[in-house]
Amino acid sequence: MTVHFIGAGPGAADLITVRGRDLMARCPVCLYAGSLIPRELLAHCPPGARIVNTASMSLEQIMEEISAAEARGEDVARLHSGDLSVWSAMGEQLRRLRALDIAYTVTPGVPSFAAAAATLGAELTLPGLCQSVVLTRTSGRATAMPEGENLAAFAATGAVLAIHLSIHVATKVQAELLPHYGADCPAAIVWRASWPDETVVRTTVGELAQAVATSMERTAIILVGRSISAQEFGESRLYAADYDRRYRPLGTEPRFPGNGAAVDTATDRPLPEAQA
Ligand SMILES: C[S@@+](CC[C@H](N)C(=O)[O-])C[C@H]1O[C@@H](n2cnc3c(N)ncnc32)[C@H](O)[C@@H]1O
Repeated sequence: MTVHFIGAGPGAADLITVRGRDLMARCPVCLYAGSLIPRELLAHCPPGARIVNTASMSLEQIMEEISAAEARGEDVARLHSGDLSVWSAMGEQLRRLRALDIAYTVTPGVPSFAAAAATLGAELTLPGLCQSVVLTRTSGRATAMPEGENLAAFAATGAVLAIHLSIHVATKVQAELLPHYGADCPAAIVWRASWPDETVVRTTVGELAQAVATSMERTAIILVGRSISAQEFGESRLYAADYDRRYRPLGTEPRFPGNGAAVDTATDRPLPEAQA
C-alpha cells in the first residue's frame, strides 16, 4: 500500500501532470485538499473510489483515513493544490507516514506562481533585469514568518517577488515594498490563475493596494519586479550567434548532421525518423 502525494496544479483541470493523472486513476482512495482542487479532476478517480474532501479534517482524521486504506490494502491518491514543495502541509503528513512505515511517493505539480507568470506572458528572469524569484508570503493566523524572512529583506535584493497568501494585507505589502522598488515598479495581481474566472490586474507598486478588487479574496498571487512587464532587456546568450555552445560549436560544422533533427541524448546521434 502506498500513499501517492500529487501536485494537482493551480486550478485548470488539465494542468495536472500525466503521471499524477495516471496515479489518480489507479488509486481506490482519493483525499483532496478542498476548494483549490477543481472538481473535474476527480473524474480521473476510478469508478467507486472513496473520494474525501479533507478541508475540514484534522491531521489525525486524515491519518485515520490513510490507516483505514492501509488496512484494506488500498493505495491512496493525496491531492494538494499547485506543487507540493510549497505551502502544502505535506511535510507533517510525510513525517507521520515515515513513523508508521507507510510507503509514499511524491509527484510534483505546476505551482501557482508559474501559472500566474504564464497568464501574464512573462519570463520572470530577464537578462540584466532579474535573475532570482523569491516565493514568499506574509505572516498568517496559522503561520508566523521566521525572523529575518520579511518582505523588506527580500525586496532589498531587487529580486522578483511572488507573494502568496497575502492579498488581504496588500496595503502593508505595498508599504514594505515601496522604499525598495519605487512607486513605478511593475506589479501584478493574478486571482485564481488558470481557473475559468481568473482575473488579472497589472499595476505598479505605488498603486498596488488600490488595485486589489474587493472580489479578490484569498486565492491570489502578487508578483512584483521589473521583469513583469519589461520590454527593455538584454537577450539571453544562449541563442546568440557568437556564443560557443555544445550543440552549436563556433567555427566548425554543426556537430550533428541534419541540424535541428531529434537527437538521442544518450549517444548524441540523430534518432531514426520513426522515433523522432
Ligand atoms: C496554501 S497555498 C498553496 C500553494 C501551492 N502549493 C502552490 O504550489 O502554489 C495557497 C496560496 O497559493 C496561491 N494560489 C494558489 N492557487 C492559486 C491560483 N490558481 N492563482 C493565484 N494564486 C494561487 C494564493 O496565494 C493562495 O493564497
